[in-house]
Amino acid sequence: MTLPDVKVDSLCLSRELEQLASFSDAAPPAVTRVLFTEPDRQARLFLKKLLAEAELSIREDAVGNLFARWPGTEPALPAVGTGSHTDAIPFSGRYDGTVGVLGGLEAIRALKGTGWQPRRSIELLMFTSEEPTRFGLGCLGSRLLSGSLDADKAAQLKDGDGLTLEQVRRQAGCGGSLGDVRLPQRYYSAFVELHIEQGPLLERMQIAIGAVTAIAAPAALRVQLEGEGGHAGAVLMPERKDALCAAAEIILAVEAVAKSGGSADTVATTGVCRVHPGAINSIPSQVTLEIDVRDIDLKKRDQVVKKLSDAIQDASRRGVRLQVELLNADPPAQAGREVLGAIQTACQRLRLSCQPMVSRAYHDSLFMARLCPTGMIFIPCKDGISHRPDEYSSPEAIANGVRVLALTLAQLAEGAAR
Ligand code: HGY
Ligand code: MN
Ligand code: MN
Repeated sequence: MTLPDVKVDSLCLSRELEQLASFSDAAPPAVTRVLFTEPDRQARLFLKKLLAEAELSIREDAVGNLFARWPGTEPALPAVGTGSHTDAIPFSGRYDGTVGVLGGLEAIRALKGTGWQPRRSIELLMFTSEEPTRFGLGCLGSRLLSGSLDADKAAQLKDGDGLTLEQVRRQAGCGGSLGDVRLPQRYYSAFVELHIEQGPLLERMQIAIGAVTAIAAPAALRVQLEGEGGHAGAVLMPERKDALCAAAEIILAVEAVAKSGGSADTVATTGVCRVHPGAINSIPSQVTLEIDVRDIDLKKRDQVVKKLSDAIQDASRRGVRLQVELLNADPPAQAGREVLGAIQTACQRLRLSCQPMVSRAYHDSLFMARLCPTGMIFIPCKDGISHRPDEYSSPEAIANGVRVLALTLAQLAEGAAR
């Protein structure tokens, strides 16, 4: 097939990324945009305006996933999907996820600009809540789309204020039922996501594009510790059941088990530690820890989770009560061969260097891979930094990613009927 000669409007895309970054609960350059908060609402309105200007047909499902479709000449065929997320964890950056949503829109606009017509429809998605911030579980939108999360269980997920997802989504104006979010298996023929690498390899090797071959397997645990509070001056040390000291042992065990118990690809992080009552002169009586554990190898990841669970139980000898909840333990995803091939063909056509690689971060593609052949296009980010306000990817790197995405979509949209 002759691939269209796409022109990416890099200036317009940079302006849109900046504008999207302004919808935030944190002072610039940091971005905080948590599911169904005011910044998220503003971001959704902004995106819907851009999608309407691009003359795409828009729909929103019961959990707030957004779909914007460019009908193909054979609209009855399963469509080709692309997209990512616009929610952002507290005090993070402006490129994680947003490059895949606004870059996906720019890829569609650039293809439209050539006068080329796709055979299969091309559909841009903005997934709800890829980040675990509000409900402790990441990829809520893509888990529900792919049938990887039970709708009733999802509805009852509670945020830090005790509000359920059902309550919060309705307050945000999402109608319908979560049970209707799931897509049928042949809804998409393929899915491809553009994303910053969130690691240093591409920049270090001076490679323009990463073609993701597999996405690492994430797991998460929540540990609730209950000790005995009391006056910091009056309770002598031998009588104490200090929940935070027990938690400190667990936090160090998380690091030790990840360093010794798994493989070089094993990572584990205690990213959340909430202390109650949180006063300097009051012995901590309750602590909540949230622990993130990953490896590319599922068996190794599960071994580390098991070792960690044993280490957590050890802390009970301090006389504290422990409640351990496994929030998620997902298998890794492999890229679809045809999607990987289309990405590599696009790179050849554009004379861009391309490196097959693994994604250590998880993405909505981890779950879209359960619906259809899926792939990811990575672009370099400065010093591999992400989930920080100084996250950065250059307009040139982003434009390269958009060009590769556009030509990948064009190939997949012409793909033989499945
Ligand atoms: O945590 C992750 O890997 C993703 O950025 N949510
Ligand atoms: Mn992220
Ligand atoms: Mn992301």
